[in-house]
Amino acid sequence: MFDDALHTMTLSEDGSYTAYSKEYNEHYHSTKDGALHESLVKHVVPAFKIKQIQDEVNILDICFGLGFNTLATLYFHKKNNFNSKLNIYSPELDASLVKSLKNFTYPKEFDALEHIILELAENGVYDDDLWHVEIFLGDAREYIKKFENKFDIVYQDAFSPSSNPMLWTKEYFADIKKAAKKDAILTTYSISLSTRLALHENSFNIYLNSGENFRSSTVASFEILPEFEKVDMLHKISCNPHAKPLRD
Ligand SMILES: C[S@@+](CC[C@H](N)C(=O)[O-])C[C@H]1O[C@@H](n2cnc3c(N)ncnc32)[C@H](O)[C@@H]1O
Repeated sequence: MFDDALHTMTLSEDGSYTAYSKEYNEHYHSTKDGALHESLVKHVVPAFKIKQIQDEVNILDICFGLGFNTLATLYFHKKNNFNSKLNIYSPELDASLVKSLKNFTYPKEFDALEHIILELAENGVYDDDLWHVEIFLGDAREYIKKFENKFDIVYQDAFSPSSNPMLWTKEYFADIKKAAKKDAILTTYSISLSTRLALHENSFNIYLNSGENFRSSTVASFEILPEFEKVDMLHKISCNPHAKPLRD
């Protein structure tokens, strides 16, 4: 049984389950886009559009939650026969949530990953020749300070800026910038101007990730990405001169 005092399993529109957090009053995924679908189209697919031909890929998954972004990455990697070495690092504050994941009903696409889900729920680490996954049980703000020039991909998938502002501030993204490589790609479901400003003021270029079957999301990079439509931040700022990024 997964449900407890703080979490309830909820069916989302692509047929995969997500959960509702009574602590944050929010679902872990968009119930309209669907948990698995959202993870794939807003994070994994755009990230690997840019990062599929590297020998080794280091991913920062903020935050582990139900593990969809990590698991969808492994699923997508295997499905496409990629042979890059993947190292996924994921902080998560809620240790009891991670333990309870062995009781979560995951989509059938994750069936072949069941042994990995069990190891992560029990020990917080999984390792084989191709994949290394580690969950850090603690505060993401402290965790990211340990890294410098490390990550190729950052999945920015915290609860919303209004309910979890500490993971969306200009200072937070300054730490992300330091932890990321110069050619890193960051993906996030947030399209809010304050999020984009917090990234823009840390010298990220901002791009739109859009498609027919999901609500648009944001891709950010220090590099020029011809694969995505660039958001004209100077125009946005001139139209919204009082808009500000969140601050610590
Ligand atoms: C939207 S959920 C993440 C969903 C996840 N990416 C997935 O695919 O299942 C946000 C997660 O952030 C965690 N969290 C909130 N504040 C945190 C912090 N300061 N450090 C680490 N984790 C945090 C919450 O416990 C929650 O599990």
